[in-house]
Amino acid sequence: MNDTTKLLLRAARGEAVPHAPVWFMRQAGRSLPEYRDLRAGIGMLESCRRPDLVCEITLQPVRRHKVDAAILFSDIVVPLQAAGIDLDIVAGTGPVVAEPVRTMADVEAIRDLDGESVGFIAEAIRLLLAELGDTALIGFAGAPFTLASYLVEGGPSKHHTKTKTLMYGAPDVWHALCARLAGITRTFLQVQVDAGVDAVQLFDSWAGALSEADYRRYVLPHSRAVLHELRGPIPRIHFGVGTAELLPAMAEAGADVVGVDWRTPLDVAAARVPGKALQGNLDPCVLLAPWEVIEQEARRVLAEGAKAPGHIFNLGHGVLPETDPDALTRLVELVHTA
Ligand code: CP3
Repeated sequence: MNDTTKLLLRAARGEAVPHAPVWFMRQAGRSLPEYRDLRAGIGMLESCRRPDLVCEITLQPVRRHKVDAAILFSDIVVPLQAAGIDLDIVAGTGPVVAEPVRTMADVEAIRDLDGESVGFIAEAIRLLLAELGDTALIGFAGAPFTLASYLVEGGPSKHHTKTKTLMYGAPDVWHALCARLAGITRTFLQVQVDAGVDAVQLFDSWAGALSEADYRRYVLPHSRAVLHELRGPIPRIHFGVGTAELLPAMAEAGADVVGVDWRTPLDVAAARVPGKALQGNLDPCVLLAPWEVIEQEARRVLAEGAKAPGHIFNLGHGVLPETDPDALTRLVELVHTA
């Protein structure tokens, strides 16, 4: 067999692969000492705007762990800042928005994203493609609901109370906000696709806060607008946390690959979204356990993932900062030889 198509793309299409491709959400970041060194004294959003740093940080986990895919080092709020929204990423907290969005006037003040204002992303992708060889490059963006949650709450939130208050109490404002965010997200992803990424992942990290009925009514049309209007024959991965009940609806939004958190076994997920490739889903906390436990759980995930037409091995959410990087390296070896 002499198939030179990148492993991740073959698994995403449900084609035969010698082993599951593997990468980790948040593989670049605080679990790596070389990341902490490089970022010392440089703000998170500033580092996202510097193509040389984006390229180097994106490559760090590829060199170290030999993962099958790189994910562009950036953040879901980067396009919001580029569209003129005053926000920052506070270490240990997450995105914080200076003036939360609550009214139609607030929504109308949000500008569209001009692709040229994120030209640093296209430049970083150009640098990366020259380095990556047969390692796939994944671009990404935040989905309208998850972005709206940060904008309406003003920062991270446990129960998304203000977000839901707006959604239920002023649906016209809600839909106007999500439509605007869908436009920003689509432009941000199109810049990445046009620059040459191999796949994209749309993160709707907090969509699991919604019932299926509310997801279908308030969120799905906007995520679908992003995924359907994106031009280019590349796989679309769609992921959220706590989305067991939403998997079919998220697949309908236009996912080729459905990301699954650790709560739903992949064979159960496979039955919920027939015909779709899956990505996931080792509990990130398992990586803090002894190797025997990691190995046992990883083999279970692989066996359950084999029930799907295609399986991309990943965690059920991002790498925790306290993870021993050597455990990740060893896990990649295991997936490659299992
Ligand atoms: O390696 C990768 O996965 C690529 C980089 C990446 C980052 N953010 C870098 C980052 C990706 C894919 C994201 C997406 C992102 N950002 C999401 C969706 C993914 C998910 O985890 O559900 C969300 C919800 C955000 C918003 C955000 N930005 C949070 C919650 C945080 C963490 C806050 C903290 O400090 O604990 C950030 C900051 C952030 N984004 C960091 C990194 C490496 C940490 C900042 C630092 O290193 O100083």
